[in-house]
Amino acid sequence: MSTLLHIDASLRPDSLSRRLSGRFAEHWRDQHPGGTVTRHDLAADPLPHVNLTQAEHLMYRTASSDGEQPEEVRRSLRLVDELRGADLLLLGTPMYNFTIPSTVKAWIDHIAWPGHTFDPVEGRGLVDLPAVVILSRGGGYGPGSPRADFNFQEPYLRKVFEFIGITDVEFIAAELTMFTGENSPDEQLKSLGERSLEEAIERVDKLAVGR
Ligand SMILES: Cc1cc2nc3c(=O)[nH]c(=O)nc-3n(C[C@H](O)[C@H](O)[C@H](O)COP(=O)(O)O)c2cc1C
Repeated sequence: MSTLLHIDASLRPDSLSRRLSGRFAEHWRDQHPGGTVTRHDLAADPLPHVNLTQAEHLMYRTASSDGEQPEEVRRSLRLVDELRGADLLLLGTPMYNFTIPSTVKAWIDHIAWPGHTFDPVEGRGLVDLPAVVILSRGGGYGPGSPRADFNFQEPYLRKVFEFIGITDVEFIAAELTMFTGENSPDEQLKSLGERSLEEAIERVDKLAVGR
């Protein structure tokens, strides 16, 4: 039986990244009757920041391993198991202040531990899982645009996923979302934003086939 791990992070219930990831998840369900979808809404149910107890148990290994592990350590390990046990990761995330929301960073901090998702000695990731990442961002960051080098959303996710072994990743981005809609301040950017969204929808529909 197949499992989809579907994570969303936008603050907005009717957001574009949610619409696109939801569309992908619907296709996935159609193709995997009986499959399981594990959901996390990181805006509605944010994870706490990782703490010293987790770092001592899972990063520095300075904590005693005798007895039962603290609940927050077990929670991180449950999130690791959930990721490693999935067949596909679907992440929908907006850009906030040029990168991912802190809620997504918190989830990454919960799952990126040596010996669990990466091997620091051999320098290789331990998560063998394909991913589809849906990105939304208010501005445009294409090559040659004034803010091209401000985009720390996709490059960061690409690297951190590669680090833990998620190398088969498809990124689908809807850009210029702040310029779409009725109150757009700029007609040219509005049509570029609308086109970006249409292309993202087309890519979602195409990519979902056979996933
Ligand atoms: C707190 C916050 C910070 C944002 N920072 C940026 C930013 O740095 N760059 C950008 O292009 N858009 C930024 N935006 C706009 C969002 O990326 C844009 O509205 C996007 O469509 C949100 O995704 P969603 O539709 O899935 O909610 C920000 C929005 C919020 C709420």
